[in-house]
Amino acid sequence: MNPDRTPLIAGNWKLNKTIAEAEAFIQSLLPRVGAVEDVEIVICPPFLALAAMVDSARGSAVGVYAQTMHEEDAGAYTGEVSAPMLAEIDVAGVILGHSERRQLFGETDRALQLKLPRALEAGLKPILCVGETEEERERGDTERKLRHQVQEGLEKVPGERLPEVVIAYEPIWAIGTGLVAKPEQAQDACAFVRALVEGFDKGAAAKVRVLYGGSLKPENAAELLALPDVDGALVGGASTDPAAFAEIVEIARRVRSGAG
Ligand code: 13P
Repeated sequence: MNPDRTPLIAGNWKLNKTIAEAEAFIQSLLPRVGAVEDVEIVICPPFLALAAMVDSARGSAVGVYAQTMHEEDAGAYTGEVSAPMLAEIDVAGVILGHSERRQLFGETDRALQLKLPRALEAGLKPILCVGETEEERERGDTERKLRHQVQEGLEKVPGERLPEVVIAYEPIWAIGTGLVAKPEQAQDACAFVRALVEGFDKGAAAKVRVLYGGSLKPENAAELLALPDVDGALVGGASTDPAAFAEIVEIARRVRSGAG
């Protein structure tokens, strides 16, 4: 963690929580993180709970992001949700290119290339997810995969807006498996992602936040968040429990103050 970049702890709930369950979560989380200013906190509920979470979190330290969006504002795209629709209800950002969206729902690099600038234009902060499969890592193709995903994803982002993009490095073999990346693996990949951003704009690379995601929990958060090129975490399973999520936020605060 570099004290010049505000750490971001984001919880991706995936397909979890009804509106009632989301309400119970936020009522339990808010008192735990009420006064936090040194760490940015984000939750990413399913679409249907977004409006309720935005209302409940208004004025608090917690931002509300969506988990995906379509690149077009409107049209014949059954089941999709667009950037202006999210912005209308004060959603603050959106996860783009999560490996589950890429693998299970056919999200392509080409679509992502349009989604990033579209999100930014609509006032949504994008979190672009990248990461290799176990097979790609074993073949020695991790950097090739990251290079492709980062370069495709950022291709159409205007230079002056690059610092607003967050990139989450999520090795697919670590997602939901309990197999967390070793600190040197996470550091190498996150530093490589930052170097790729440097290829677009040197100044932006120093500002862009790179997150680690994949089986991050309170027990392993400190050593991952302490890595120099890791600026926070995209948390799946552990983010659905308010106590565990608040603990990860607290660990990020401690790491930051120690680093500062
Ligand atoms: P887990 O923390 O459950 O491994 O999920 C990580 C993830 O995919 C966050 O987007």
